[in-house]
Amino acid sequence: MNRAAVVAGLGAWVPETVVTNDDLAARLDTSAEWISTRTGIEQRHIVAPGESTGDLAVEAGGRALKSAGTERADMVVLATSTPDRSCPATAPEVAARLGLGGAAAFDIAAVCTGFVYALGVSAALVESGTAGTVLVIGADTFSTILNPADRTTRAIFGDGAGAVLLRAGAPAEPGALKGLHLGSDGTRSRLLEVAAGGSRQRSTGRPAEPDAEFFTMEGRAVFAEAVRHMAASVETTARLLDWRLDDLDRVVLHQANSRILVAVAERIGLPADRFVRNIERVGNTVAASIPLALADGVRRGELLAGQRVVLGGFGGGLTWGSVGLVWPDVVAA
Ligand code: ACO
Repeated sequence: MNRAAVVAGLGAWVPETVVTNDDLAARLDTSAEWISTRTGIEQRHIVAPGESTGDLAVEAGGRALKSAGTERADMVVLATSTPDRSCPATAPEVAARLGLGGAAAFDIAAVCTGFVYALGVSAALVESGTAGTVLVIGADTFSTILNPADRTTRAIFGDGAGAVLLRAGAPAEPGALKGLHLGSDGTRSRLLEVAAGGSRQRSTGRPAEPDAEFFTMEGRAVFAEAVRHMAASVETTARLLDWRLDDLDRVVLHQANSRILVAVAERIGLPADRFVRNIERVGNTVAASIPLALADGVRRGELLAGQRVVLGGFGGGLTWGSVGLVWPDVVAA
């Protein structure tokens, strides 16, 4: 392989409204202390009424283009499980609003692993020469599909969007994506789901089961699966790259729960402080989680050019995946 997909720009965006743990404790049977100690989350951002995933994706995508110093991209790939409408995909409208009319544009649904899947597919399109540049966006607005009475999911999820611009380059360059590993286990799809609204329980305006239009999650089982699969996936990517685990300067995982990050660190035998963590500020933002953590990592000086980094995700499906890179010299816009 003499052509690689290289990270050339990074953008992030969260909606204005902040919901603190105290705000939730005032409305639900929970406490700020429970949320903070069980998840590491202190606040999350949520969309205003009428604000959509596509709106956030446009903001983050525009910032990634600006960070890369360009106004053009050949393709837009949007990872999301909360599209603006169930049909058509959200990406074409995002492309048009970014002035990228005519660019190929499509959505990828792999829930919290969506950004890693989107990076993998986009990198392959760059490596094959099909695309010269791809704008890869992860955006979700889970606040729009949560049961307002569910104290657990409402404590965890926040809304947001993050994006990178990939350009064609050489495999030895900083920023070149490599060591991609992706996996799934559809036998456990019901651990995280929105039961209604798809072809199995059609959107009639009257779901077959009460609350079937809301997102549900079996938290404890998901926790165990997340630790197992993210740890194994990071190890696989390191092995594919011929990197010892101890060579990893930074690990940037999907921000689902700070206790999951600590458990993965213990499992693979790395100090927890090598794991970038911004869950306290944004909560679990699903497909936006990894690029938002990248942007905060850069802004806080924790992600530096030349560091060996593995990105890893786990989510509904079940799905998981990882990819590695030597961190490039990019500014987070
Ligand atoms: N406030 C107070 N108590 C609560 C709350 C809350 N917000 N939420 C749950 N509890 C209670 C439960 O009812 C339970 O009470 P009980 O013992 O009387 O039955 C108790 O706390 C313990 O519940 P658990 O579910 O065992 O709590 P746990 O420590 O596992 O934390 C959590 C729950 C935060 C959901 C955790 O399991 C978790 O983070 N799971 C993983 C989520 C995840 O990784 N998702 C990733 C993918 S997301 C995606 O793909 C969309």
